[in-house]
Amino acid sequence: MSAILVTGGSGYIGSHTVLCLAEAGHQVIVLDNLCNSSEVAIERVRELTGRPIDLVIGDIRDMDCLSQIFERHPVDAVMHFAGLKAVGESVEQPLAYYENNVAGTLVLLEAMQSEGVKQIVFSSSATVYGDPERLPVTEDMPANRATNPYGQTKSMIEAILNDLAAADPEWRVAVLRYFNPVGAHPSGRIGEDPSGTPNNLLPYIAQVAVGALSALPVYGDDYDTVDGTGVRDYIHVMDLAEGHLAALDYLQQNKRSGVWNLGAGRGVTVLEMVEAFRRASGQLIPTEPKPRRNGDIAACWADPAKALRELHWNARRSLDAMVEDTWRWKSGNPDGYNNETEKQEKTNLSKKQ
Ligand code: NAD
Ligand code: WQD
Repeated sequence: MSAILVTGGSGYIGSHTVLCLAEAGHQVIVLDNLCNSSEVAIERVRELTGRPIDLVIGDIRDMDCLSQIFERHPVDAVMHFAGLKAVGESVEQPLAYYENNVAGTLVLLEAMQSEGVKQIVFSSSATVYGDPERLPVTEDMPANRATNPYGQTKSMIEAILNDLAAADPEWRVAVLRYFNPVGAHPSGRIGEDPSGTPNNLLPYIAQVAVGALSALPVYGDDYDTVDGTGVRDYIHVMDLAEGHLAALDYLQQNKRSGVWNLGAGRGVTVLEMVEAFRRASGQLIPTEPKPRRNGDIAACWADPAKALRELHWNARRSLDAMVEDTWRWKSGNPDGYNNETEKQEKTNLSKKQ
């Protein structure tokens, strides 16, 4: 068993991966500045697993904080989820994205290098492929074709990691290019909790289903796809989390670096997703046709064969499981972690008084 530092571990994908790591018996230390998450997520992972999980509230850009973590814990490997991820915001505030994602990763890598911790699993994205020339997307296709600053930060970090592994063979790097992560833990206790109006499809549908938003805008119905709406490769977040454990295993067993697509390998349209959610929730989910969204592509799905061949991993959960688990999470927690955060704050306050 290993000691794993998980940056961004209280976020959506991080928290599900922390759960899987803890269940597999690893010692987990989470570093998160909570800029887009709640510590309630980690509290719930502790409840679900019955395992202690260290949470350090701090920033990957803070070298002193990182040094202290490495001094206190015998870290074997890092899973690096921490980063800003809103595409539109990255267009408006590119410097914040380069600073947090790229400069932050540099500080993390420097800290790892000086402590001799040289294994990292990195959260990249299918966004690095831009509008792919052919489908399904394979890992050897150009990975520097992102069309926004957020995506550029992913390509840049991939290049940095690649150079690092080439310069020092002791470094072992797993770059995981996620397709469209959705779903939640089957308990309904942890899930995706975006702040404000969601940008992504499934969180938006879920908000409509609980009545917080009136209708789903469908961005474009004239794409060259089966029903005219956009096609994506949705992957259950628990499959994704398990993919991280498979990548960690690969680094530790094979002593080699690699890049893998983590997707289900199948395309689903917006309308197919809406229909699946209607079935799972019994809710109406009104839709509203809208023009195509700026920067959107018609279709994208993965060829996940390399991950199956080398990591012995594949996405096992169905579309129905994705929407059912999202609905269980959303209907049980219509305000995400908010209520509980408020409750906790009130309890802390009354303890102080
Ligand atoms: P998330 O926002 O839920 O999680 C990211 C976490 O990082 C948050 O908890 C946030 O508080 C933390 N964080 C951000 N900057 C930090 C910093 N400087 N120091 C410490 N903590 C910091 O996002 P997510 O959906 O769980 O995504 C995790 C990773 O996967 C991100 O790197 C994201 O870019 C990548 N990714 C996500 C998707 C997706 O659709 N969700 C797709 C592809 C790749
Ligand atoms: C999916 C489909 C939309 C919302 C984004 C990022 C990408 C990655 C994953 C991090 C598209 C349609 C959506 C809505 C809609 N993140 N849609 N109405 O755009 O594939 O990828 O998240 O790396 O970088 O760009 O995901 O969920 O936003 O959209 O019709 O309200 O749903 O047009 O066809 P996308 P998405």
